Amino acid sequence: MAVRLFRHAVAGMALAASATAFAQSAAVPATAEVGSLTVDASKPGPVINRDIFGQFAEHLGKGIYGGVWVGKNSKIPNVRGIRSDVVSALRAIKVPVVRWPGGCFADEYHWRDGIGPASRRKVTINTNWAGAVEPNSFGTHEFMDFAEQIGSEAYISINVGSGTVQEAADWIEYMTAVAPSSAAKERAANGRSRPYRVKYLGLGNEMWGCGAPYTGEEYVTKMKVFAHFVHNHNPEQAPPRIDFAAIAKDLMTGKPMDSLPSNPNGMRRIAAGPNSADPSYTEVIMKAWKARSPIYWDIDGISLHQYTWGSMPFNEPSTGFGEKEYATVLMQTQWMDRTLTKHSEIMDRYDPKKHVALVVDEWGVWLKPNEGTEQMHLIQQNSLRDGIAAAMNINIFSRHADRVRMTNIAQMVNVLQSMIMTDGPKMVLTPTYHVYKMYVPFQDATFLPVTFEAGQYRFDTITLPKIDALAARGKDGKVWLALVNLDPNAETEVTANVAGIVAGKAQGDVLTAPGFNTVNTVGAPDAVAPRPFSANAVDGKLVLRLPRHSVTVVRLEP
Ligand code: AHR
Repeated sequence: MAVRLFRHAVAGMALAASATAFAQSAAVPATAEVGSLTVDASKPGPVINRDIFGQFAEHLGKGIYGGVWVGKNSKIPNVRGIRSDVVSALRAIKVPVVRWPGGCFADEYHWRDGIGPASRRKVTINTNWAGAVEPNSFGTHEFMDFAEQIGSEAYISINVGSGTVQEAADWIEYMTAVAPSSAAKERAANGRSRPYRVKYLGLGNEMWGCGAPYTGEEYVTKMKVFAHFVHNHNPEQAPPRIDFAAIAKDLMTGKPMDSLPSNPNGMRRIAAGPNSADPSYTEVIMKAWKARSPIYWDIDGISLHQYTWGSMPFNEPSTGFGEKEYATVLMQTQWMDRTLTKHSEIMDRYDPKKHVALVVDEWGVWLKPNEGTEQMHLIQQNSLRDGIAAAMNINIFSRHADRVRMTNIAQMVNVLQSMIMTDGPKMVLTPTYHVYKMYVPFQDATFLPVTFEAGQYRFDTITLPKIDALAARGKDGKVWLALVNLDPNAETEVTANVAGIVAGKAQGDVLTAPGFNTVNTVGAPDAVAPRPFSANAVDGKLVLRLPRHSVTVVRLEP
């Protein structure tokens, strides 16, 4: 275990190193400041893919067992073993996609252990996560049932590290084939005759770390074989028939084939990609992709993992922290932008048409585990600060929406920066959950350029913009604004102008609390909860008063 924990630690050290030198100093005095914000609704940008609001659920600690799965005979209300309180909370945030079964777990997972009668399932050891006993009660059918209960698509991470190509191909065939294939018959015998939908296929996880480890070149050699042989057989997702006449024409004219015609419902293959800002995997994978023949193998995305650790990886407290820790985590959150820019620049060189998405399929704040819990279960509290960090990240992802088309926060329930924490039969919604709920109107909304200026928030050597803002035209046709006031000491007034629109009022919700370190608990589940927010234009000016350390989401009305 120590070796494994060390591997995770090394991945985070580089990020943390430059944040260790902060000294405590007096905070900026509390003064309400005035800022301005301008949205240009006449210059719509890309669609903010709803999959940017995706989730990640790994067999880790209480992420699945206790958090999602309680078993059919549990006293906790459940449908076919899946807890109903968690399902209804997740339905409310319209989870678009869930990545499963890992994480590091995925590269040691053997899917056949998790199908068939519960009493005959193999009991295995979860070597990555505290050597926990894995009963395999939650397997393919249970995960797919869970995804369908919450109304989400499935992102299946196949075992590239310790599994075979055949095992992975068989798994996806088992999930997606139709009769009369034997795989479809076996699935039907286990309770599901209709094929499942698999929207995304993850080709391994952290192949530079717990997934192997491989160099980028070694990984590409292996990944191409998985990309070639693992097929989705669901008729709704099947690729269009190959048009040999078109291929022959391309060959005759010497025109390089960019991509094959694709099914918009087709399964998208995501290669395991870089660790934070390290460019090596991105460069090697994109170079191979550029040189590929799409008839033989292709990918639709590269995964990126970047966590926010604070100044002490694995040791930054999740409760009772001060302004230094608040400012440090928010400053590190901003590093996501430069990481995305760096990888996007590499991808643009090989793929200017942006066929390949950058998929941030693990991100979030990774803090010290709660006292008295198994350290490798990664159970941490979730404060208002962490909700603010989530909002800043979503804003950053949306600004990169032309390239970033899916992200999966780590993790959904009871692990790291979770949406939900459970305690036996009780459930607590975290500040991060509330941010996801408030941002629902941004799912599949169209990005609108927004400029803003409200001065800076300073703490010691850290300087951050006082506010962060995102604007989009929702699928409801309305203009939506998300505004983060990072300043923990001062309310900020912002005057909003929307070119081409008369905004008479703004209505929505604000998330704040007495302290940036306020958390929700079983005893105080609503210490951090959204409250209604509204503002009316005065003399043609829409002024929004943003409380200190807050997230506000509003819809503009005439
Ligand atoms: O999310 C926890 C772990 O972090 C994942 O299993 C792994 O991919 C990463 O190191």
